[in-house]
Amino acid sequence: MTNLQGKVAIITGGASGIGLATVKAFLEKGAKVVIADYNEEHGKAAEQELKQTYSDVLFHKVNVAEEQQVERLVAETVKHFGKLDVIFNNAGIGVQKPSHELTDEEYKRVISINQDGVFYGAKYAIREMLKTGGGSIISTSSILGSVGEPTSMPYAASKGAVNQITKSLALEYADRNIRVNAIAPGFIESGMVNKEALGDFYDGLVAKHPLGRLGRPEEIAHAAVFLAENDFVTGTTILVDGGYLAQ
Ligand SMILES: NC(=O)c1ccc[n+]([C@@H]2O[C@H](COP(=O)([O-])OP(=O)(O)OC[C@H]3O[C@@H](n4cnc5c(N)ncnc54)[C@H](O)[C@@H]3O)[C@@H](O)[C@H]2O)c1
Repeated sequence: MTNLQGKVAIITGGASGIGLATVKAFLEKGAKVVIADYNEEHGKAAEQELKQTYSDVLFHKVNVAEEQQVERLVAETVKHFGKLDVIFNNAGIGVQKPSHELTDEEYKRVISINQDGVFYGAKYAIREMLKTGGGSIISTSSILGSVGEPTSMPYAASKGAVNQITKSLALEYADRNIRVNAIAPGFIESGMVNKEALGDFYDGLVAKHPLGRLGRPEEIAHAAVFLAENDFVTGTTILVDGGYLAQ
């Protein structure tokens, strides 16, 4: 079992929702954490708040869809904290629109952040982990990586790709002690997913989860901690979905 005390972790999309909950969970475990996000306002606010309790937390502005920015993120992390043990590729967006009305730009924006961003994060993390003898790569997938959803095609496609990137990388780097896993959340209460924002649609979403509620960001953070700590788990996408996909 890996002890997260003193481990260095990058958490993309770390300025809000699932990412921010995971930043807090990792800091509580004694990890040194880089909050990587393109929302500078939220990222700096999170850094400032957390610095009151934890000394080893840093905000780094990044667009995960831009390869060179991700390369710089990893380089700066190693420069500051000396190594990289864990990357949580969690930044993601969605678009809801009938597929025949999607523009090329809308489609590619989702793919570039949710899918390419996971590739870039893994690529540069692996380069560092090969130098130090191992590490843990975790990505946020979704239940929609396994089942379809009307009007969310680019999102579902990108999350299906995350599952496959996860399996392939796990096999490729297992003998170098780099573990690669993903988490597939059900619907989680967050900035975009809440009763106020969704109105009547909210109750319909709740009804799709056998446990009778949506998930909480902390419940996904808990799974990320498990995947970072458990040395015998690789190549898997674990469901944290309130029973959604059991039906
Ligand atoms: N909330 C849900 O119901 C749910 C369900 C399944 C999967 N997910 C996935 O969980 C992850 C986190 O989502 P969340 O619910 O916490 O949403 P959120 O909107 O609260 O957080 C996403 C964060 O990612 C950042 N981000 C977006 N694009 C970025 C980019 N290009 N570069 C860097 N940062 C970027 C945003 O600024 C934001 O801080 C996403 O990958 C999402 O697809 C969410």
